Amino acid sequence: MSDLQTEAKTLEDQFTSAIADAETLDALEQVRVAALGKKGRVSELMKGLGKMSPEERKEAGPLLNGLKTRIADAITARQAMLHEAALEVQLEQERVDVTLPVAAAPAEQGRIHPNSQVMDEIVAIFADMGFDVKEGPDIETDEYNFTALNIPPEHPARQMHDTFYFHEQEDGSRLLLRTHTSPVQVRTMRSEKPPHRFIAPGRTFRCDSDQTHTPMFHQVEGMVIDETTHMGHLRWTLEEFARAYFEVDSVEMRFRPSYFPFTEPSMEVDIRCDRSGKDVKIGQGDDWMEILGCGMVNPNVLSASGLDPEVYQGFAFGIGIDRLAMLKYGAPDLRAFFDGDLRWLKHYGFSALDVPSLYGGLSR
Ligand code: PHE
Repeated sequence: MSDLQTEAKTLEDQFTSAIADAETLDALEQVRVAALGKKGRVSELMKGLGKMSPEERKEAGPLLNGLKTRIADAITARQAMLHEAALEVQLEQERVDVTLPVAAAPAEQGRIHPNSQVMDEIVAIFADMGFDVKEGPDIETDEYNFTALNIPPEHPARQMHDTFYFHEQEDGSRLLLRTHTSPVQVRTMRSEKPPHRFIAPGRTFRCDSDQTHTPMFHQVEGMVIDETTHMGHLRWTLEEFARAYFEVDSVEMRFRPSYFPFTEPSMEVDIRCDRSGKDVKIGQGDDWMEILGCGMVNPNVLSASGLDPEVYQGFAFGIGIDRLAMLKYGAPDLRAFFDGDLRWLKHYGFSALDVPSLYGGLSR
C-alpha cells in the first residue's frame, strides 16, 4: 500500500467513527468542517493532486474522490438521522392531550355584577307589564332634580337629600349629581306626549355611607300617567312586581304613609324579612326593610312638566335596586358591591349567558 493509500484509509476510519459518534447536528457540522471544509483534512489532501504527475494523479484522483464522496455520504446519512431524532424529541415534548377539558374562555370567567343582573330582571318584569325603559343623565340641573319636582329653593326636603354639588357656574347656578331618578319623570313628560308608562333605572348619588348606604347607589323610577290611573293600580303594580321579582306566590308588603314633595299622597313600602342571620330572608321574620317610595303624582309636578292636572293623573315610584339585590342574593354589606373585589364578584356575580327573562326564569 502506498503512503497515500494508508493516509486515506486512516482518515476514512477516523472520520467514519467521528461521524457515528456525533450526537448533535452541531457536533456533526464540526466533523464536516474538519474533513471537507476549506482547510479540512480531506480538502488539504486533494490540494496535493495539482502537483502530481499525470500517472500519479491517475491513481490518487479516484482514491481521494472516493474518500471524499464516502465521507460526504456518511455525513448526509447521519444528518438525516439526527434530524429525525430531534423531531421525535420535539414531538414528544409538545405532545397535547386533546382529551383534557378546555380552559374556560374569558367570557365564561367574567361575571355580571348582581346589580346589573337585578336591573335586567327588573326591566324584564316591567317590560312584560308594558313599560318602556327611559334614561336620564347622572349630572342634573337644580330644575330637574328639585324645582320641577315641587322642591323649590329653601324647601326643607333639599336638606334630606345630602346632595353632591359641582362648582358654581357663571350665572350662579350649580349642577349636581342627581339624588334620585325622579328627574327622569320631568324629562320624559316634557319631551313626550302622554300617556306615559315607563321605568328609568340608573345611578343616583347622596353623601351617605354605612352598611346599607353608599354615596353612589341605584334606583329605578317608575311612572304611569294617563287620565284614569289611580292608587289601586299603583298597589297592584308594586305587588305584582315584588311577586315576580322574588319569585314567590305572594310577598308581604307594608305601605306606610310618608311624605315626598312630588307625590300626594305618598307612601314608603317595606317588605317583610329576617335580617338576624348571615343572609337576609324574604317573607319571614319580624323585620321590615324599606325598598321603595311611591305615591300619586303631585299636580304641581304635572303642571311644571306641561300637563294639565285637571286632565292627567297617575302614580310614580322609586325603588332601591341595590337593596333589592341584597335581599334577593343575600349580600350583607352594600359597600362590598362597589369595592371592585374580584373574589366578591366571583361569589355573587352571574354568568354572562344567564340572561334573565320571564319565560326562561329570572334566576336559576
Ligand atoms: N325619589 C324618591 C327617593 O329617592 C322616591 C320616589 C320616587 C318617591 C317616586 C315617590 C315617587 O326617595
